[in-house]
Amino acid sequence: MALIFIAVLLLFFLSEAYDLHKDTILPWCDFSSNYTIPSPFKANLDNLLSSLPDAAANSNNLFFNNSVGTAPAVAYGLAQCRTDMSAYDCGICLYRSALKAFSQCLMYRSATILSDKCTLRYSDSCFFSQISLNFITVQNFNNVSNPTLFIQPLRKLMSEVLSKAPRRVTKFASTSFNDSIIGDIYGMAGCTRDLTDAGCSTCLNQALPICWKLVIQKVAECFL
Ligand SMILES: *[C@@H]1O[C@H](CO)[C@@H](O)[C@H](O)[C@H]1NC(C)=O
Ligand SMILES: *[C@@H]1O[C@H](CO)[C@@H](O)[C@H](O)[C@H]1NC(C)=O
Ligand SMILES: *[C@@H]1O[C@H](CO)[C@@H](O)[C@H](O)[C@H]1NC(C)=O
Ligand SMILES: *[C@@H]1O[C@H](CO)[C@@H](O)[C@H](O)[C@H]1NC(C)=O
Repeated sequence: MALIFIAVLLLFFLSEAYDLHKDTILPWCDFSSNYTIPSPFKANLDNLLSSLPDAAANSNNLFFNNSVGTAPAVAYGLAQCRTDMSAYDCGICLYRSALKAFSQCLMYRSATILSDKCTLRYSDSCFFSQISLNFITVQNFNNVSNPTLFIQPLRKLMSEVLSKAPRRVTKFASTSFNDSIIGDIYGMAGCTRDLTDAGCSTCLNQALPICWKLVIQKVAECFL
């Protein structure tokens, strides 16, 4: 089952105030299977979640994956932050995500906790290096005034980040243009770092058509 990756599209427009520091954390619990308390799986999960944030924050790439325990109670998890974050902010973001998992996804064996700055994911089955097609989208209903003029610079922007992100160790790319008609436009895309270059590329290219649905919005985020 578990597959993982994120694609994020983030579009700004001129001086539109969009607060990057406003960190919305979205818990995505998989309600299909649960555990009991106490249980070996719960003990392994607690162990995993208490160590992942520090391990990721202190790693070179702000990424860490791990598995704790033995079959049939293994807890698999990964944690990563955007590479422009400090280790300190990364740790804070991931601890907040772990707390969110404890409070919102308690009793469920798999969850993905997404925010603009970090990702935390765990499951009772191994999902490392697999592509996920589950998706969550977030959008801002502040529409662009002229979608026709918007679409060309947007395509150029996203094609650039989609070609760059998979080839990088960080699996992340961002860019911006100053378009003569619509003004400044910003974009970014990323995958979790357990994916291969090809996996990340496949994933982002499958994500894009889903994310295009948000094109009339000035700010669109698409987490997959
Ligand atoms: C937990 O799983 C058991 C067995 O599948 C099921 O009977 C029970 O309803 C589940 N509880 C919740 C809260 O989902
Ligand atoms: C981390 O993920 C890689 C695949 O991306 C896998 O080969 C490795 O075993 C994982 N590490 C742990 C500790 O599970
Ligand atoms: C933006 O466009 C959508 C789709 O046409 C519409 O439902 C929504 O009300 C619009 N929002 C604003 C703020 O105009
Ligand atoms: C983009 O171009 C416009 C007009 O040419 C200018 O007013 C604006 O300051 C530029 N923005 C940036 C970030 O350079």
